[in-house]
Amino acid sequence: MYTKIDLEQISTNGPAPETEPERQYYFIKKCKEYVEQKNKELGRSLTCCVQTFGCQMNARDSEKLLGILEEIGYVPVETEDADFVIYNTCTVRENANQKVYGHLGYLSNIKKKNPHMLIALCGCMMQEELVVEKLRKSYRFVDLIFGTYNNYKFAELIWERFDSNSTIIDIWKETDQIVEELPVERKYPFKSGVNIMFGCNNFCSYCIVPYVRGRERSRKPEDIIKEIQELVADNVVEIMLLGQNVNSYGKNLEQPMTFAQLLQEIEKIPGLERIRFMTSHPKDLSDELIEVMRTSKKICCQLHLPVQSGSSRILQKMNRHYTKESYLALVEKIRAAVPDISLTTDIIVGFPGETQEDFEETMDVIRKVRYDSVFTFIYSKRTGTPAAAMEEQVPEEVVKKNFDRLLKEVQSIATERIERFQGRTMDVLVEEKNEQLEGYLTGRLSSGIVVHFPGDESLIGTIVPVKLEESKGFYYMGKRG
Ligand code: SAH
Ligand code: SF4
Ligand code: F3S
Repeated sequence: MYTKIDLEQISTNGPAPETEPERQYYFIKKCKEYVEQKNKELGRSLTCCVQTFGCQMNARDSEKLLGILEEIGYVPVETEDADFVIYNTCTVRENANQKVYGHLGYLSNIKKKNPHMLIALCGCMMQEELVVEKLRKSYRFVDLIFGTYNNYKFAELIWERFDSNSTIIDIWKETDQIVEELPVERKYPFKSGVNIMFGCNNFCSYCIVPYVRGRERSRKPEDIIKEIQELVADNVVEIMLLGQNVNSYGKNLEQPMTFAQLLQEIEKIPGLERIRFMTSHPKDLSDELIEVMRTSKKICCQLHLPVQSGSSRILQKMNRHYTKESYLALVEKIRAAVPDISLTTDIIVGFPGETQEDFEETMDVIRKVRYDSVFTFIYSKRTGTPAAAMEEQVPEEVVKKNFDRLLKEVQSIATERIERFQGRTMDVLVEEKNEQLEGYLTGRLSSGIVVHFPGDESLIGTIVPVKLEESKGFYYMGKRG
């Protein structure tokens, strides 16, 4: 989708409007005039590159940043030798941070060769004071730094940088504002993420997200529906509803609404074929939601249900508000309602105080649930979270050994699980040309499983039946059925 802004109608002569999004339209136009002038001087078009380091929500934010950059007149390129490079950062684990610092070293060398280059940093990592302090001191070549609460102000901040020629740093501590109707440039023409809420109130003891994304804020249902309708009118057939815990959607709205009710409204949108959502916290996944999933024709046959650990003792220390037993009972209830469902999960190995016994409980859950896929993480200590202050950090070699064992087990289960579709003909949303196999396409089942099959590029973005002929462990080879 691309929110159409009629820039012709906007005057940049007077002062900037006070209201949003009009204020941002004003700055988009001002930046656009500046970029046009610069293009003329240089005899070429200025280019931009947006790099995402984080989760799906971070990726969706990047699409919004790119939408604004394009509206301003920058031409997007894939590589970082561009005139405007922005890193949308993540800080959920320490290695996410390290990656950003590594890339910045590389960027500084490119900048030395291009005097017109601007470097911007935004996203979750920027909400940490120590990070910004370090950048201020040791990474002085960075031109613009902002956080997660004010990215809607991107055009205004770029303008400030153009206007002042000095580093702009704008980090907010919190916001309750949600600004709608800004441009978005999405990555895929046929599928899109849609934010339904921002922030998180759960404070799992290991997690930094509530500190860098703030308190839960739900978008109004009418804004969500309108966005999806516009996306569908622009050829989108599949949407992924995004929130740190979609099960608490709507609680803080003026007229409260449950996530299940929102899904029912979205289901009614004609032309929309597939609905996905993430993430669903096991503590408050309602019977109402299970019922909606059971009867829906559009909600995909997949559920990401992060368990984090199989040990009730550790789950309590993690502040997850469920036990091993209640999680397993929930899985049973879901499987009874939607028998074919693909379940996926997240697991952390090496949470402080995790004993071998606790870890075996996690292995037990893996074997009982039989996930279609599992995202496994080594516990990473995040400064400021309660878990960082817990003693008994688990020795690295123990964590590594358990992690490898877990990985082996989940892979072997996933390979067995995928076999259940062998020989069946199922709907595939065609996503792209297969880069390795000439004449082949790649798409996804409702369950999320990847399928490669021979076909013509013109099918990209459509849903076609495909016979699943051969399982290859993590994907299928098929033939149009
Ligand atoms: N809101 C989502 C998760 C967002 S973060 C949820 O509750 O499921 C994605 C995943 O990163 C989490 O599920 C968790 O498994 C992992 N994670 C978060 N903090 C972590 C940390 N400090 N160390 C290791 N993994 C972590
Ligand atoms: Fe982090 Fe827990 Fe919130 Fe997920 S629900 S973002 S793991 S605090
Ligand atoms: Fe996502 Fe990373 Fe932020 S996981 S919410 S980009 S800390």
